[in-house]
Amino acid sequence: MKASTLPLAAAATLIQSSLAAPASQPPSYPSGSGNGSSGGDALADYRAGQVKDAFLTAWDGYFTYAFPNDELHPISNTFSNSFGGWGASAVDAFSTAIVMELPDVIDTILNYIPTINFHQTAGGEEISLFETTIRYLGGILAGHDLLTGPLSQYASNTTAVHALLGKAQELADVLKFAFVTPTGIPHNGLYVENQTIDTSDNNINGIATIGTLVLEWTHLSDLLGDTQYADLSQKAESYLLNPSPATSQPFPGLIGTNVNITSGQFLDASGGWIGGDDSFYEYLLKMYVYDPTRFSSYRDRWIAAADSTIQYLASHPSSRPDLTFVAEFDGKSLIYQSEHLACFDGGNFILGGLVLGEQKYTDFGLALVAGCEDTYNSTLTGIGPEVFQWTVGSANASCSDSENSNCPGVPADQAEFYERAGFYITNSNYILRPEVIESFYYAYRATKDQKYREWAWNAFVNVNTTTRAGSGYAELNNVNAPGGGAKNDFQDSFLFAEVLKYAYLIQRPDAEFQVNDDGKNFFVFNTEAHPFKVVGTTAKAL
Ligand SMILES: *[C@@H]1O[C@H](CO)[C@@H](O)[C@H](O)[C@H]1NC(C)=O
Ligand SMILES: *[C@@H]1O[C@H](CO)[C@@H](O)[C@H](O)[C@H]1NC(C)=O
Ligand SMILES: *[C@@H]1O[C@H](CO)[C@@H](O)[C@H](O)[C@H]1NC(C)=O
Ligand SMILES: *[C@@H]1O[C@H](CO)[C@@H](O)[C@H](O)[C@H]1NC(C)=O
Ligand SMILES: *[C@@H]1O[C@H](CO)[C@@H](O)[C@H](O)[C@H]1NC(C)=O
Ligand SMILES: *[C@@H]1O[C@H](CO)[C@@H](O)[C@H](O)[C@H]1NC(C)=O
Ligand SMILES: *[C@@H]1O[C@H](CO)[C@@H](O)[C@H](O)[C@H]1NC(C)=O
Repeated sequence: MKASTLPLAAAATLIQSSLAAPASQPPSYPSGSGNGSSGGDALADYRAGQVKDAFLTAWDGYFTYAFPNDELHPISNTFSNSFGGWGASAVDAFSTAIVMELPDVIDTILNYIPTINFHQTAGGEEISLFETTIRYLGGILAGHDLLTGPLSQYASNTTAVHALLGKAQELADVLKFAFVTPTGIPHNGLYVENQTIDTSDNNINGIATIGTLVLEWTHLSDLLGDTQYADLSQKAESYLLNPSPATSQPFPGLIGTNVNITSGQFLDASGGWIGGDDSFYEYLLKMYVYDPTRFSSYRDRWIAAADSTIQYLASHPSSRPDLTFVAEFDGKSLIYQSEHLACFDGGNFILGGLVLGEQKYTDFGLALVAGCEDTYNSTLTGIGPEVFQWTVGSANASCSDSENSNCPGVPADQAEFYERAGFYITNSNYILRPEVIESFYYAYRATKDQKYREWAWNAFVNVNTTTRAGSGYAELNNVNAPGGGAKNDFQDSFLFAEVLKYAYLIQRPDAEFQVNDDGKNFFVFNTEAHPFKVVGTTAKAL
């Protein structure tokens, strides 16, 4: 199902027709947003326009049938509230609408945010401190930074723009009781109405949900000139920077997953660059990008984790030794399994290579990006699976070696697939995840190699074709079945925040909020792809 790329002449024709499209779209990119928007990059402009059209399709469905609820069910044209009912898709779409320069959508979301009541959820349901932070706090702060910075021409309602920061503070004030624990490590499951925690967590939280707050809460403090939010998140992070007991760090910098909220002690030594751990590692580096003065110790922990990953976790599947994947670990034992979520790792290594001036991280990151591309271009839909495994050495021996009961060896019905692809599928879903396109974005920004734009475009076309359903886009049950198998009636908010943003920005020229290949960045993307202005630069439009 790979879509062929469009010849330049055809692209030029299509640009003309897309200019005649909806009145809500600006007819062309404003001058000043980059130098590639005319005369020579017509193909990239065409592709960016197509991604924008997909965004508007998803937005129109959401706006018509779900706004201001959290997410659209595109097949039944209904909605649900997975994140408190505060309009997760709208807030997640905010910074993408801004970088896409869509004034009508920006106005709708900008005028909506000040009306959210963060003191009350839609149905008294539990919310996640982590999800609320990365989506809502992240989306609001990024909107603030872009509309008071490089895209201030879209700040149509200055009263509402000024209200954003107060709204972000209001949200943090609603959430901050989570950190009132003996150690300062927060609980993740919260009831905001009565300010209580979900006690079924047994006083345990994980390193991703603890360690993916520090960028948002620190940035909020910096903008407000009030250190309390930074202090709360950094105190919690301190237990992850200095893990105890020592056995919870089986390789330097690589740590376990679960932490006892009462004692601050780790409860295991299992982990990797996978869901549950992933953005803890991501933020070690991104805190340094955000402020190299205050967060050099975070950088040092990222370097330790990155070096150990290259030394101990890098793995080459037996059938495709040209590919590089990153294994999980349980203590010092490796588990030859990875997942779509982990495919952010290539992009994170590349960002590390750029900002630290270390080519070895960029090279390793590019190898991981090629491995994740292989998970896409090996399936029937051209989209990668949720979870996959591989074997090393003698193909059938390695699983028993790894003592992993989840690793029974290559299933007979995937033997041929494994020989060709270098992995076999253990969970075939695709739930509109962004990480592979995200890493293509970093690879392109670092190298300017057009190959990465091609990969991102192919991924976008396949997602656009295969997940399109009803009034929007829906999750797939099987990336290796014709048409992606059955669809799940759910359009995740990160389609707006991440998939479509990275698919768009990779086709766009340099701009203040883009990642720079010289390692000097004016913005850093949070884990939900919301761009925050970094500290200590006097950024000016390029
Ligand atoms: C675009 O900008 C870059 C960097 O400033 C410059 O090297 C390049 O020549 C410019 N390209 C065009 C077509 O103006
Ligand atoms: C707080 O509210 C939630 C949701 O309504 C409820 O499940 C929980 O029992 C309440 N906690 C207390 C201590 O009242
Ligand atoms: C501008 O924002 C303010 C504050 O949220 C709001 O009260 C006002 O109605 C908005 N103006 C328009 C024209 O939407
Ligand atoms: C967490 O630490 C507390 C205090 O040391 C201890 O009482 C409790 O048993 C620990 N919980 C677990 C799951 O180890
Ligand atoms: C899939 O991507 C890999 C990664 O570089 C590339 O080597 C290979 O040629 C691609 N295969 C197809 C069928 O496009
Ligand atoms: C692995 O086992 C399968 C089925 O038992 C067999 O067909 C295949 O040849 C074996 N591969 C290797 C490398 O031993
Ligand atoms: C995306 O999907 C829409 C609706 O199915 C279609 O009209 C459009 O041509 C697709 N875009 C691309 C680039 O394939």
